[in-house]
Amino acid sequence: MTILVTGGAGYIGSHTAHLLAELGRDVVVLDTLERGYRDAVGDLDLVIGDIADDRVVAKTCRKYDVDSVIHFAAYKAVGESVSQPLKYYKNNVSGTIALVETLIANGVNRIVFSSSAAVYGTPDSSPVNEDAPLRPQSPYAQSKADVEHFLRSCDATGLRSVCLRYFNAAGAHDSGDLGEDFSLTTNLVPVVMRVLFGSQARLDIFGDDYPTPDGTCVRDYVHVADLADAHVKALDYLATGGTSLVCNVGTGQGTSVRQLVEVTESVTSRSVPHAIGPRRAGDPASVYADPTLIRAVLGWRATRDLREIITSAYRWHQRHPDGFKR
Ligand code: UD1
Repeated sequence: MTILVTGGAGYIGSHTAHLLAELGRDVVVLDTLERGYRDAVGDLDLVIGDIADDRVVAKTCRKYDVDSVIHFAAYKAVGESVSQPLKYYKNNVSGTIALVETLIANGVNRIVFSSSAAVYGTPDSSPVNEDAPLRPQSPYAQSKADVEHFLRSCDATGLRSVCLRYFNAAGAHDSGDLGEDFSLTTNLVPVVMRVLFGSQARLDIFGDDYPTPDGTCVRDYVHVADLADAHVKALDYLATGGTSLVCNVGTGQGTSVRQLVEVTESVTSRSVPHAIGPRRAGDPASVYADPTLIRAVLGWRATRDLREIITSAYRWHQRHPDGFKR
């Protein structure tokens, strides 16, 4: 019995695939390598192909005797989704429908889905729990909400799903050999790393006049190793008969941009040149999770703090200044 990890050559997918292998589980990665990296898969089994290609998915299910799936494969750039919505709906939504159709036809009825706190948009308040209204503010976020909805409907087919709404994933593998590609992303931790390693002159803090304790935006940064562990727990929950579930994956701790800069300077003993810039359009002031549900149902809680996030990200970038090679 094997776990199929779609998008397992990407950032969170590769950490999860390796954790599963470290735990002795059989894993096969399915990835187009369009945005993922072969080196992130290492010595795990890799099938290069698309989730929407029913022949590849069916063949993989049969060859590996797949019994459950963790589905990461998706585009995730918010700005790009606004300018290229078709690309996002086609890959993230239509691709998932095609994948699920093939899985069901091949007797696979357990799936863990990579969703996002972006489905909440700007929540009325934080901590935000799963009952908060969904107000996706981009085609990317809408595609995640659509797939959640689709998977819920699929309960009628016997498919059971766990949708994990990630807050801000960050950090890298303990080995220092697996981490986030920081060349393209505009997320805060990779940007701070770019500044430390000289490929960006300074960090622009997007506004310091928010109604937060220090005026900068507050987010919930979750270590990627903790996130990977949440997937293992979600799989085990489904394997032991758990019913479909949607839950937040966050620490419950809010951290401001300024606090993150301070922790980075303390951990690395280096200064992070920064300047206060204008607000970024669409940024909510404060978003952090209420993780009560995931603690109660999956027994998951974050075990690593912001210092470990920064330490691991720094180690990864020190060892791999150019990230993975194509
Ligand atoms: C973003 C995405 C969200 C996605 C999440 C995790 C948007 C609008 N949202 O969330 O859909 O799920 O990443 O990948 O893009 N910041 C700076 N300067 C920078 C970069 C960031 O001050 O150069 C601040 C931002 O204003 C924000 C915080 O850092 O307050 C975190 O930003 P970011 O890493 O982009 O994540 P989110 O905006 O929370």
